[in-house]
Amino acid sequence: MGKTATAVNLAYEASKDSQTLLWDWDSQASSSFYLRIKPKIKGKTGSIITKKSYYQKNIKATDFPDFDLLPADFILRDLDVMLSKMKDSKKDLKKKIIGMFGDYEYVFIDAPPSASVLSEYLLYISDVVLIPLIPTVLSLRTYSMLKSEIANDKSRNRIFTFFSMVDKRKKMHNDIMEDVKKVENNLLNVSVPYSAVIEKMGIERTPVQLIEPKGQASSAYADLWKALLESEILSAK
Ligand SMILES: Nc1ncnc2c1ncn2[C@@H]1O[C@H](COP(=O)(O)OP(=O)(O)O)[C@@H](O)[C@H]1O
Ligand SMILES: [Mg+2]
Repeated sequence: MGKTATAVNLAYEASKDSQTLLWDWDSQASSSFYLRIKPKIKGKTGSIITKKSYYQKNIKATDFPDFDLLPADFILRDLDVMLSKMKDSKKDLKKKIIGMFGDYEYVFIDAPPSASVLSEYLLYISDVVLIPLIPTVLSLRTYSMLKSEIANDKSRNRIFTFFSMVDKRKKMHNDIMEDVKKVENNLLNVSVPYSAVIEKMGIERTPVQLIEPKGQASSAYADLWKALLESEILSAK
């Protein structure tokens, strides 16, 4: 939980300095909703991944400079089937997709709730996968399972995590965070607090920076983006 909030707020942070695209992969279209964009897709969507015109027709400007959004497409629900039918090798596909986004310095993908084929594919086409981790036993378990499902030894170092929905008053949250810090290599040293401002994004339909710029949640997302930029993988780009 917290993927969409993270995608929207981090993409907003990135767009302050760089051309940024947020690509909504969730058919529930929450990212589009938060950014006040009608998630309507034009044209035949069967060849979504490799046709330039699909992107040209459907990428929309948000209310913010240098911040565009590509809305969710129902076809993405069947992306795994589509991918399995495609003739391109995985490598060609990656090249083509990256070619579509030449104008953007950063492309964020807001992942769907759960789908391991998609997650695997996501990991393949992305430089970095960021997974919010709520400091509870169950989330930890889900995180470990997801990681071992999608990652191999080589890709493991591109999967990052950070604590989200943290309540520092809860002993259990603090204990779990301490334990994870000891064992998790790619844990970014930023905790996003449990915050009513983040919930308010659904009412205000805007990034937290615009709701409470000096608040804890806003600075946490700003710090998170900074931490990612400073990571070995992104700083080498
Ligand atoms: N740090 C947080 N504090 C409080 N509420 C949060 C926080 N992160 C997410 N939420 C709320 O939890 C719900 C799910 O978050 P969301 O980002 O949509 O998760 P996902 O995309 O992983 O399903 C939303 O209502 C959102 O406002
Ligand atoms: Mg979501």
